[in-house]
Amino acid sequence: MAIKKIKNNVFNVGVDHWDREVFDSLIPLPDGTSYNSYIVKGSEKTALIDTVDEIKEHLLRKDLQALGIEKIDYIIANHAEQDHSGCIPAVLKMFPRSKIVTNAKCKGMLIDLLHVSETDFIVIGDGEELDLGGKTLKFILTPWVHWPETMSTYLKEDKILFSCDFFGSHLATSDTFVSDEGKTLLDAKRYYAEIMMPFRKIVAKDVAKIEQYDIEMIAPSHGPVYDNPQMIIDAYKEWTSDDVKNIVLLLYISMHSSTERIAEYMIDSLVDNGIEVKPFNVLKADIGQIAMAMVDACTVVLASPMVLAGAHPGMVSVAHLANALRPKVKNAAIVGSYGWGGNMVEQLKSVIPNLKVNLFEPVLIKGLPREEDYKRLDTLIGEIKKKHEEICNK
Ligand code: FEO
Repeated sequence: MAIKKIKNNVFNVGVDHWDREVFDSLIPLPDGTSYNSYIVKGSEKTALIDTVDEIKEHLLRKDLQALGIEKIDYIIANHAEQDHSGCIPAVLKMFPRSKIVTNAKCKGMLIDLLHVSETDFIVIGDGEELDLGGKTLKFILTPWVHWPETMSTYLKEDKILFSCDFFGSHLATSDTFVSDEGKTLLDAKRYYAEIMMPFRKIVAKDVAKIEQYDIEMIAPSHGPVYDNPQMIIDAYKEWTSDDVKNIVLLLYISMHSSTERIAEYMIDSLVDNGIEVKPFNVLKADIGQIAMAMVDACTVVLASPMVLAGAHPGMVSVAHLANALRPKVKNAAIVGSYGWGGNMVEQLKSVIPNLKVNLFEPVLIKGLPREEDYKRLDTLIGEIKKKHEEICNK
């Protein structure tokens, strides 16, 4: 990435990874990603806030040289995960007098993950400050966005919050600041859904904590800098609230069209009843899209055929993902079809213990749905509608 000036003596020397397709060997990246790394130059000291993924070390090195950085006194580690910490050993080699500044928990993780030396650290606590000379860094512990050691760094004079993954988006862009709020919000929602959502209650506390500061910009370590930070703060407040929307997330798989008929009937009927439906054929869908739909759906429907006396393995897998992501969904239904038998209801229930949901009466249909089966689906849809009218924030 070209060097991006954020403010006077504050630069993003990070890297856009335009063609990265997947993260953590799990998360699809339709827009690539970036690893932002920020230089803050005071009159006395220079700090580097987070580094970049090790595979892009050559580009970080190039930017530091192009900016004429002759010394780095402090490497601020907001997070131990290697997409931000991976080049810490290389920066320590380039600038042997520099120290890693981080909290005690992050220090331990960096030693484990990177084998850096115990003596390379300055350990700070919540609220401590570091004076660079006219630029003061204040460290704010913001745990579980999305690991236990995560923290944010606030540059007091310029009112910039360096938040690392918190408020980030997997988005490679040549823009320095957010240019398309709608696009960035979607990418940030996807990112929140994939890694922050399981810790929703703690994330809400972190949002409240950083809101005590006068923030003019949020500079995350993925995606563009927010020069209108209230936009992403308000979005996080909505996503982490207990409010759900009048939305049904319908996850389906079909083998011989029977479950597909159930899904089609439910989609049309739910829409006719004034309910928004987000249907996904699980075997074709991007799991990031499914995770995003989980952020504010009121009800999730698992629609599966039975295979070898149980749910389709693809449905077990997506149910496992939902259980891990712990969305605030309030209701769930299990529907599907079978040819000769099985018990997928108990199986799927056992996969989603983290979902604190009202489970509607399952509807299992032998073969292609008949008239009486559609009536059972009508009953289920009526129950869903009733629950949505009671609890959904339209
Ligand atoms: Fe962007 Fe949790 O690393």
